[in-house]
Amino acid sequence: MSRLIVASNRVADLDKAVQSGGLAVALADALHERRGVWFGWDGKVVSDGLQPGLNLTQHGPVRLATLPLTQRDYDEYYLGFSNNVLWPCFHYRLDLGRIDPKSIDGYRRVNQHFAQSLAALLEPDDLIWVHDYHLIPLAAELRALGVKQRIGFFLHIPFPPPDIFLAVPEQEWLARTLFSYDVIGFQTSVDTNNFRRYIIEHVGGEEISEGRVRAFGRTTTVKAFPIGIDVEAFYNMAHTETAEEQIMRLHRRSMASSHIVGVDRLDYTKGLPDRLKAFRRLLELYPENRKAVTMMQIAPPTREDVAAYSDIREELEGLSGAINGEFGDFDWTPVRYIHRAMQRETLAALFRGSQVGLVTPLRDGMNLVAKEYVAAQDADNPGVLVLSRFAGAAEELAEAILVNPYDNDEVALALQKALTMRLKERRERYEALITRVREHDVKNWQETFLTELRSAGAEIIE
Ligand code: G6P
Repeated sequence: MSRLIVASNRVADLDKAVQSGGLAVALADALHERRGVWFGWDGKVVSDGLQPGLNLTQHGPVRLATLPLTQRDYDEYYLGFSNNVLWPCFHYRLDLGRIDPKSIDGYRRVNQHFAQSLAALLEPDDLIWVHDYHLIPLAAELRALGVKQRIGFFLHIPFPPPDIFLAVPEQEWLARTLFSYDVIGFQTSVDTNNFRRYIIEHVGGEEISEGRVRAFGRTTTVKAFPIGIDVEAFYNMAHTETAEEQIMRLHRRSMASSHIVGVDRLDYTKGLPDRLKAFRRLLELYPENRKAVTMMQIAPPTREDVAAYSDIREELEGLSGAINGEFGDFDWTPVRYIHRAMQRETLAALFRGSQVGLVTPLRDGMNLVAKEYVAAQDADNPGVLVLSRFAGAAEELAEAILVNPYDNDEVALALQKALTMRLKERRERYEALITRVREHDVKNWQETFLTELRSAGAEIIE
């Protein structure tokens, strides 16, 4: 069996893969089966001028190959082009894109450097799987070094419509470099269509058969591979003795009878201010919920070196304080806002103990919290998922209450509907949702992608 080489900006701690959840577990499993190598940034930043080599560590059959970024690389490649240009623009937020020519150079330079380090590790039969927006040109750089092995790419975030993609600097170069991959995977059919439209309408490409797209003198496979979770593992996490105890504490310590839960990195794409405004509208429009419902929003810090992230933190703190000040009482705090990461076991318990899962990103590649909320529920008394129609997960999870996350009144109405939904309807919706979450679980995602990659190797470079 050929080895699997995974390349991603972040590399999971393989000894803690189970705690880090879905993706890390899925990739760790695949890597174990195939004597794999996981290649990427070690999360450290070193002074400019230092360029330490690869650090190789062995974890059973799996090898981790990591390297640090210099300060300049961190500023230009990670903060600059990846998170100040690609991240906002691919999430349809051109207003937040900060274009700086130096950052594009840094992005190219780090991808080149990564390619050189990775090429030295490769064996002739390897399958290479590259992840996410930081590493789009990696395959092109590997090809330039003579690498002929099959290389696949999976984009974890959305791919925007052509008119938005056209505003991304160097967008044609990015698209061209994607054609060095043998398989290009997206989360949903919307993303896949956006990419296909850009290729056909703007660079003269064509779809030669279903899922096979030709442009820049190359043909590649372009398909949706919706990512999933390990359903059983998450269900089990929500059903331990500790979880039972945590759920009891949640209910005992609060006079509210119903709980709404949200868990997201504190990112402007997650729609958190609008989510709190919708909760405020719930309390205004349906006052029977006062003292009867609390909303818990867990929002761990992320990318704090990017200005747009500190702005959103201030806005959220202001809003939760204002709602608590206006509606709270000595025996009831309407919003519980937690700006810290929590153990996955605790999250699983909170999902199970909350009547409503509120997942309302303004735009999201997939959103695995939506799937985890469903997986944590009890079949005989399940909670209700309120889900943004702009999360990739909405394509599969049509039996959630789908909402426009920008419309606070619509979300308030959806919350009211969820809080008052009868058991029969909750069960029917849950059955449909859990079936879909099981069908498209993380194992299926990983196997489908790798099967496609193995069979797509015929036309590596024409
Ligand atoms: C998203 C991206 C990942 C990224 C993660 C955390 O899920 O798709 O590629 O690793 O956010 O962001 P960070 O910037 O901390 O790696």
